[in-house]
Amino acid sequence: MEKKDLISIMDYSKEEYLRIMELAADFEKTPNQKLLDGKVVASLFFEPSTRTRLSFETAINRMGGRIVGFTDAGSSSVTKGETLHDTIKMVSHYSDLVVMRHPLEGSARYAAEVSDVPIINAGDGANQHPTQTLLDMYSIIKTQKTLDNLNIFMVGDLKYGRTVHSLLMAMSQFENPIFNFIAPEELQMPKEYKMYLREKGIRYFEHKEFTDIISEADIVYMTRVQKERFSDPIEYEKVKNVYILKNEMLENTKPNMRILHPLPRVNEIHTDVDQNEKAYYFTQALNGVFTREAIIAHTLNLK
Ligand code: CP
Repeated sequence: MEKKDLISIMDYSKEEYLRIMELAADFEKTPNQKLLDGKVVASLFFEPSTRTRLSFETAINRMGGRIVGFTDAGSSSVTKGETLHDTIKMVSHYSDLVVMRHPLEGSARYAAEVSDVPIINAGDGANQHPTQTLLDMYSIIKTQKTLDNLNIFMVGDLKYGRTVHSLLMAMSQFENPIFNFIAPEELQMPKEYKMYLREKGIRYFEHKEFTDIISEADIVYMTRVQKERFSDPIEYEKVKNVYILKNEMLENTKPNMRILHPLPRVNEIHTDVDQNEKAYYFTQALNGVFTREAIIAHTLNLK
């Protein structure tokens, strides 16, 4: 059987998105399903992570699998000059599945070409973060009861934010989405994603502020300005606090509106929002465990 990698969110069809949503709901009801008994999963994090790594590892443990890997490439033979090619070739001989995060765009696709076992992309530079997108979609369907006809606000770093790039492409497969992009000049949504929307006839709007229009949103997807993607620290200082969502801004928002954030947060959501029932980001992170169980089961054809 051909191996099934998950590198880009576009590697899955709309039917597969919906299948993952169903499986995630099943794992949420029954998280401990020992489908990975006897299997070894390699977890290779060449870049820091809290949620993605720990929720994958929780998912693997709940499914009865074993984990090998590293959380810091500095403790691997990469420090001796070993190439990504050789690292992946070796690890794919040791394991049944590889989950990989790497700072270089395209590294996950390259790993998939080298590997004998499926690769799941846990984030490759500013490119894609498909498992985050699937958990975002699961969070959206749980809170909105649909993935159609939604007005989605994306706020913050839309240039380097791989989560917004993947989410835009996935939600574009559903009926009649509207996107509102709120970003400073330096961090606008890249042209190729806007062209993608135009080609599909999907409406999008760009703004510098959103206080006056937040009442129209179904989903407000906040993002962190990512210090690690800036080569010039002065440029980062200029934009780091440009949007801060505060509780007082939520007064006239729709009852169904929910605030999502892939996390980690720095300053972009004030802590006074955390107690608001529209703040969904911590539950969203929990949804990552069930969604990643679903992705693993789907990748290895376990259910
Ligand atoms: N959302 C996300 O990718 O978080 P981590 O960087 O902590 O994994």
